[in-house]
Amino acid sequence: MKAIRGSLLASGLIASNAVHATTPKYCPTGADNVCFRFGIPQSSADSGSGNIYFQIRAPSTYSWVALGTGDQMKGANIFVMYQDGSGNLTLSPRLGTGHSEPKEDTSSSAAKLGLLAGSGVVNGVMTANVVCPNCESWNGGSLSLTDTASKWIAAWKSGSSLATTSKSASISQHDDHDQFQLDLTQATVSSDSNPFLEADTEDPGSGSGGGSTGGGGGGSDDPGVVAGPGNPFAPGVGRTRRNAALVAHSVIMTATFAALYPLGAMLMPLTGSWIAHAIWQTVAFVMMWVGFGIGMRVAQDRNMLFNNTHTKLGTAVVFLLLIQPVLGVMHHKYFLKYRERGVVSYAHIWWGRILLTTAIVNGGLGLKLSNANNSAVVAYSIIAAVCFGIYAIVKSWAVVRRGRQQGPHLRKSDNFTHQQRYPVGRQPYRPRNRV
Ligand code: HEM
Ligand SMILES: *[C@@H]1O[C@H](CO)[C@@H](O)[C@H](O)[C@H]1NC(C)=O
Ligand SMILES: *[C@@H]1O[C@H](CO)[C@@H](O)[C@H](O)[C@H]1NC(C)=O
Repeated sequence: MKAIRGSLLASGLIASNAVHATTPKYCPTGADNVCFRFGIPQSSADSGSGNIYFQIRAPSTYSWVALGTGDQMKGANIFVMYQDGSGNLTLSPRLGTGHSEPKEDTSSSAAKLGLLAGSGVVNGVMTANVVCPNCESWNGGSLSLTDTASKWIAAWKSGSSLATTSKSASISQHDDHDQFQLDLTQATVSSDSNPFLEADTEDPGSGSGGGSTGGGGGGSDDPGVVAGPGNPFAPGVGRTRRNAALVAHSVIMTATFAALYPLGAMLMPLTGSWIAHAIWQTVAFVMMWVGFGIGMRVAQDRNMLFNNTHTKLGTAVVFLLLIQPVLGVMHHKYFLKYRERGVVSYAHIWWGRILLTTAIVNGGLGLKLSNANNSAVVAYSIIAAVCFGIYAIVKSWAVVRRGRQQGPHLRKSDNFTHQQRYPVGRQPYRPRNRV
């Protein structure tokens, strides 16, 4: 079988296994000039085991930088790099156990990470050119060297140098982390030797800046670095880390802003009952704070609090909406007195409309932030558009109907007395469906 495959390869029939001249590079967006490169010798790919090469490169302002095979911390084969205190680097093979500090893997299957030529701390840049002869399997997982969607994780922590040669040095929790996929068949190198020597000339201080994010994947805005005809990187499947809390946050917020609040607004023209309107909107208001609280937790967990538009704008919206019930009560009092809309009424109406619209847009930013896939974005847009459409139809129908049914309105200039419910010289009037 291998022989057949080998001859197919030799005759160029398996195009995807073509050997690439440069090693694909990936720079997570969340980090500052942290980049990884990969090289899989053809011989290792063919036999399914053997040396693989990778490079970890970062400014020395980072205390540690790690790469790992796996799609989450738990069960991952993690390779942590930090300064050794004498101008070179320490590589520490660790096993991920969950959301806690990964400890050195001291088992016999621990990754035998070797530091190669070209490594060191030079001009404020840490470079580790690494060979791993046994990274295809570890205690708890395996990596196929021909996987077109191999799963990787990365994490980094800025801070002072650990300056130790100890592989078991204690590291503090990452500032941020990333997950991505790499098509290993696009990282093939022809010879089983350090592939990073020639490619090493470019200055990482000025380069990259973040080749890859969600959407398109890695390195695309970093010309000349990514090998192969297609993009070998894709966002990790688990990159959104869509857990129960995040789902709860998005469902509650979408339901509140796209359905509950607009429905509550429609209750006014539909039923004319301010009590129904007030109760309904109070429920929506409480839901909103629940969704906000969950969102805060998720953001805090993920170091995403107020470092992005979604969390900033969302917080602004919920706090600005605190004024809404106050405006509602003021409008209600005004209306009871004058039986018509005043400035405060329009403030109540338009404050609500503007903030709800902002919130709907912010939901889209949230989907972007969590790297949601296209179907989620489409579903969200449809829900938002349908709710918006229903709201617009009900409102314009109410306006038309009100125009037809409108009786005489009371004016501020009308003569009110405490004794009289209706002003002198004007007919009693029961307002219909309008508050
Ligand atoms: C001191 C060590 C570490 C601590 C205390 C720690 C703690 C945590 C915590 C609390 C989370 C959950 C927050 C979230 O969902 O974002 C998390 C997630 C994550 N961490 Fe770490 N971490 C450590 C080191 C590392 C290292 C060295 C890596 C990898 C190279 C890493 C990669 C990840 C990844 C990929 C996730 C998200 C995926 C998942 O659900 O597991 N972490 N970590
Ligand atoms: C770091 O160590 C590697 C492996 O021993 C070596 O090849 C490299 O030259 C060293 N770098 C420096 C700057 O000493
Ligand atoms: C308002 O009505 C009261 C009693 O009907 C009357 O005495 C008073 O003159 C009126 N005031 C004005 C400004 O019309």
